[in-house]
Amino acid sequence: MGGDVLARATALRQAIEGHNHAYYVLDAPTVPDAEYDRLFRELQSLEAQYPELAVSDSPTQRVGGTPLDAFPKVRHALPMLSIRTETDTSAAGARAFDTRVRKELGLTESDPPVEYHAELKFDGLALSLRYEHGVLVQAATRGDGETGEDVLNNVRTLHAIPLRLATSNRPGDTPPAVLEVRGEAYMRRVDFERYNARQRDAGKPTLVNPRNGAAGSIRQLDPKLCAQRPLRFFAYGLGEAPDWDAATHSDTLDRLARLGLPVSSERQVCRGADELIRFHDAIEARRDTLGFDIDGVVYKVNRVDLQRRLGFVSREPRWAVAHKYPAQEELTVVEAIEVQVGRTGALTPVARLAPVFVGGVTVTNATLHNQDEIDRKDVRVGDTVIVRRAGDVIPEVVGVVAERRPTPAPPRFSILASYPACPVCGSHVVRLEGEAKARCTGGLYCAAQRKEALIHFSSRRALDIEGLGDKLVDQLVEKGWVHSPADLFALDVAALASLPRMAEKSAQNLVAALNAARTTTLARFIFALGIRNVGETTAKDLARHFGQLDRLMAATEQDLLGVHDVGPVVAQSIRQFFAEPHNLDVVSKLRAAGVHWPESTGVQQSAGILHGKTLVLTGSLPTLTRDAAQALIEAAGGKVAGSVSKKTDYVVAGADAGSKLVKAQSLGVTVIDEAGLQALLAGTTDNPAHESKQ
Ligand code: IVH
Repeated sequence: MGGDVLARATALRQAIEGHNHAYYVLDAPTVPDAEYDRLFRELQSLEAQYPELAVSDSPTQRVGGTPLDAFPKVRHALPMLSIRTETDTSAAGARAFDTRVRKELGLTESDPPVEYHAELKFDGLALSLRYEHGVLVQAATRGDGETGEDVLNNVRTLHAIPLRLATSNRPGDTPPAVLEVRGEAYMRRVDFERYNARQRDAGKPTLVNPRNGAAGSIRQLDPKLCAQRPLRFFAYGLGEAPDWDAATHSDTLDRLARLGLPVSSERQVCRGADELIRFHDAIEARRDTLGFDIDGVVYKVNRVDLQRRLGFVSREPRWAVAHKYPAQEELTVVEAIEVQVGRTGALTPVARLAPVFVGGVTVTNATLHNQDEIDRKDVRVGDTVIVRRAGDVIPEVVGVVAERRPTPAPPRFSILASYPACPVCGSHVVRLEGEAKARCTGGLYCAAQRKEALIHFSSRRALDIEGLGDKLVDQLVEKGWVHSPADLFALDVAALASLPRMAEKSAQNLVAALNAARTTTLARFIFALGIRNVGETTAKDLARHFGQLDRLMAATEQDLLGVHDVGPVVAQSIRQFFAEPHNLDVVSKLRAAGVHWPESTGVQQSAGILHGKTLVLTGSLPTLTRDAAQALIEAAGGKVAGSVSKKTDYVVAGADAGSKLVKAQSLGVTVIDEAGLQALLAGTTDNPAHESKQ
């Protein structure tokens, strides 16, 4: 092996660790992943060729360890202490600490304020890293404070932790013979979410929260498993460090950062209690944007000589205190699982919880979203669960504490089994294929869906009842005058005019609009019913195919699948709608109220000249409005689609046609103009002469 090879390996190692540092410690990547991978592979192949190069602090050796049966025990050279927690979470907590410190130091009111170092209280797992002559040789958990476990092979997989400390030209910044660094392993929220998403996709177990993720990962006996967990690290202090001569804690952290260790930049030297409180409040306000979990802030007396003078009481330094924030996660019990019916009939399961104070409020409910979510977390009535409430986000059940499940185990929870009927209206509850949510089928009848159903029913493309806006619908429903669309037709001018903000004239207009709306088309009527998955186009297809409402209502799923563009999901929705007696009742009341339309015998008759053809309209046509063009096409049996595909037969392009025209041209779809359309409709051409030149 020549000197060149050695020099190249050293250069590669330095470059790779430099990029690691930039990426994992400074959060400022310096090179694209591909370049990093290239350097890494080059070093790997050099080391394969010259095994003597593969030293233990090479970045290629981070996942080198073999699985263990148990972790070796480590006696801490200096015990790992805990910090006293200030019980008073208000500003008074910081003052109480300052008062105690001043008293212990024998300071009087005329003495200047004490200098503190305020920092974050990270919510992860405490670690002690031992560097000898700059090389990481041991990494231990806290254990009971005296003895922990050596988790070196796992800790080596954390890219944020240098395997070898950096050296710099600054005096005092050369790694000492022995340096123990204390700090916290943690997981960022994004990394936690991403990890869980990947696990879910692979059908593997997910982590409950980032803290358990960090603690659980470090305790994996196989370093390969730990290596898959995206852990990070922040240094916050020292263990054994005989040659370390920093005068202040802030100087210590600055120096650790220069040695390449990750140190949070959210820290501040504060003079006196007021500045501590300001730090506390400022961090609390930004707590949810830090990107990782903290459970409070920590205040430390900054000067090391004063720390020594203050000393310890029973494993807790008198010079430090933790000032906590309200917890964002707590344990509580699921007392019941109920469902809420939304405006569109979707059923959302909600856990009723034993009241618990979390994230600053008392929480009694948490959404469980849908059945898949319940299955995934396996939440059951009687379970003890972790509830999370961060910031203004609605409370969430994070997971179940498996060990606390009652015996015998309660049954799994199924929405459909517990709620075969809608709790609001008693209609059937179904879950359509491919949909996350279970739904109430009583669309026209269900009180929870009433307003939404009425707004849809009267909308322009449905029964087009002019003057019936959202606000009026609210009033009519709240007064109890209108329960279903059929009740609209019983409204009279006198009653309407008695409503606030309703003039006599508007009341008259509305009644006139209702009268006019009684005469409609079958397609509009079908659309107005608000059947799930039946939009305007499908309603038209259905009207054309069946010709009569009774035939549609009697259609089997098989019959429905015979309709142009109707697939299994739509067919199922239609069947379920008409299988619900409450809906049939409303339909018959609507007919009794005089709502009517011309009927035909269905498809046989209505195959027009454009039967089976799909057209797309784009741009503005010289004489026809968009609606008029669409009506003409549909009257001739054609369909109008919203976007161009290979299945499009014609694109009718007017002025300022945009991307649809480009798409048509790229797919080779025939493009015509208005005159071409008229020719098609008149049947004067099969291959329109007016094909546009665009
Ligand atoms: S200092 C001499 N600083 O809190 C005091 N601890 O009870 C030794 N922790 O599990 C600890 N953030 O891992 C210190 N900025 C911080 C901290 C911190 C979190 C954890 C520590 C331990 C507990 C101490």
